[in-house]
Amino acid sequence: MTDFSVVVDSRGGNTRKVADAIAEELGITAADVTKSPPDDAKILFLGSGTYGGKPGEAMMKFIGSGNFSGRKVAIFGTSGSVAGGQNMIVVMTDLLQQRGATILGNYHCRGKTFLVNWGRPNKEDLENAKKFAQEMIKKS
Ligand SMILES: Cc1cc2nc3c(=O)[nH]c(=O)nc-3n(C[C@H](O)[C@H](O)[C@H](O)COP(=O)(O)O)c2cc1C
Repeated sequence: MTDFSVVVDSRGGNTRKVADAIAEELGITAADVTKSPPDDAKILFLGSGTYGGKPGEAMMKFIGSGNFSGRKVAIFGTSGSVAGGQNMIVVMTDLLQQRGATILGNYHCRGKTFLVNWGRPNKEDLENAKKFAQEMIKKS
């Protein structure tokens, strides 16, 4: 069993940037949720964009079909609005807890959508994502 894995559902590439920053901090590569990602790590970082207030369908399926009993999960994501991101995190948290996961924490930032949030996630967002990764390691 590996120590960490980062799995991401990103339609437009914003959350992929955050996933890559976290993975770089952990010294690993982030996996796409649609491409049979590894799910046996001790600590999973699961991330998604926000679509209609929820995580992506593929992430919902990944969580819904997995056994997270006794697993530690850190959640991250991007969204158009602060409220949208908060809502998406709540949906992911509830689903994961129902599947037995212990949630270590979460991180979300804005992501560009059409002409809104241009340039996000930006350098600071990605630096904060790396700090989040370090905090989660300390907690785990
Ligand atoms: C189809 C669609 C639905 C979206 N719905 C929401 C939403 O409900 N709330 C929100 O805050 N942002 C919403 N957004 C904005 C995205 O969450 C935001 O652009 C995010 O960074 C996308 O991540 P991605 O590039 O990794 O796919 C939506 C974007 C798209 C394309």
